[in-house]
Amino acid sequence: MLDPVFRHADRYLASLDDRPVGVPVEADVLRARLASELQAAPLTPEQVIDELISAVEPGLVASAGPRYFGFVTGQALPAARAADMLAAVWDQNAFSYVSSPAAAVVEEVAERWVLDVLGLPSSASVGFVTGAQMANATCLAAARNVVLGRLGWDAARDGLIGAPPLKVYAGAGAHATIFGALRFIGLGAGSAVPVKVTSQGALDVESMTLDGPAIVCAQAGNVNTGAIDPLAELAERCRRAGAWLHVDGAFGLWAAASPSHRGLLAGAELADSWATDAHKWLNVPYDSGLAIIADRVAHRAAMGLSAAYLVESEHRQNYDYTPEASRRARGFAVYAALRSLGRTGLAALIDRCCAHARLFASLLAEGGASVLNDVTLNQVLVAASPEAIARVQADGTCWLGGTVWRGQSAMRISVSGYGTTEADVRRSAAAILAALG
Ligand SMILES: Cc1ncc(COP(=O)(O)O)c(C=O)c1O
Repeated sequence: MLDPVFRHADRYLASLDDRPVGVPVEADVLRARLASELQAAPLTPEQVIDELISAVEPGLVASAGPRYFGFVTGQALPAARAADMLAAVWDQNAFSYVSSPAAAVVEEVAERWVLDVLGLPSSASVGFVTGAQMANATCLAAARNVVLGRLGWDAARDGLIGAPPLKVYAGAGAHATIFGALRFIGLGAGSAVPVKVTSQGALDVESMTLDGPAIVCAQAGNVNTGAIDPLAELAERCRRAGAWLHVDGAFGLWAAASPSHRGLLAGAELADSWATDAHKWLNVPYDSGLAIIADRVAHRAAMGLSAAYLVESEHRQNYDYTPEASRRARGFAVYAALRSLGRTGLAALIDRCCAHARLFASLLAEGGASVLNDVTLNQVLVAASPEAIARVQADGTCWLGGTVWRGQSAMRISVSGYGTTEADVRRSAAAILAALG
């Protein structure tokens, strides 16, 4: 039955360039098409998939296409998409070596390649999680245990009740998922001391008073502006204070893979942990995030499992690095993306997205729009009313979302896909200028 599915997949991918990118649909339209009651008798897989394909059609967003600039969304590289489909076909449980030697060794190799292209210490460890949200939670769980350990408290064994207070610092522009992660790991979103930021949203190191063991949450790539915190300075401050430096680099960390943008991330390699996504700038299909920790022992102590039935192995046990035990073999798609791009292909992808962001900014500014950020990476922030943003979305040429930046309503343009061309940028900029009026 996979033949018709592949034919549909090919047709869908071929339609991406022409279909409206994100035209809104009423949820009731989808509910009506997807049937409300579960029938009693089984159906054939062919019927189920035929029905599913035609029912969901109006609710699909062409985020896999070249003119989707919403959130920070990568396209899916052909090799990564195919590897991910194979992960479903092979149905490997990636949790341990014995449950899938292939998944274990693929993740071991992909770990090495990821550290290499990101310029991070080769001894660090990588967990293949769902996204930067879980990567932040994984890294901060290890950070919490290590920093509390320095204060004489074993959080992995004794939990947090009665633990000494732990200071967490995060820039006022930290991503929402940092606060989500702090909630999940029991420190509470309110534990974060807000640090002042610059007009671009980068952390203002001078205004931060670090005293004693603490966790500092830095950012490489502000979701609105793309701004990167001064990581070398932060690393030095943290080293002197005995603090753990965590970098949320969901997309920005990938700039290190390009020789022409690497300088923006100077000092990133000195941090203790890094959260990033493969489903953003590496263009791996959803879902795929990477939790990277310099101290492999701390990573395993925070995430690892042990039980009599979990067959010991001298090889990589993927469950040592992620909050999940059983899970999809996410490493296949990361491996395939890196293998298909190679170093130069990855650098070219990063450079092309940044060049397209700059082109967007200049076309929009020439057309009278007001660009609110310094376009140093792949993000462009443009003053726009919510109504103008809704007009862009309804037009369907491209899709982008809104935000409020320093009290001002704005649209966010994120260029993160390998397939976006200069023609796509020009066509989209024209549609945006028409909607801005
Ligand atoms: C800086 C930053 N951190 C974290 C996230 C969350 O990533 P995810 O939705 O993949 O968990 C994002 C998403 O845009 C981000 O830009």
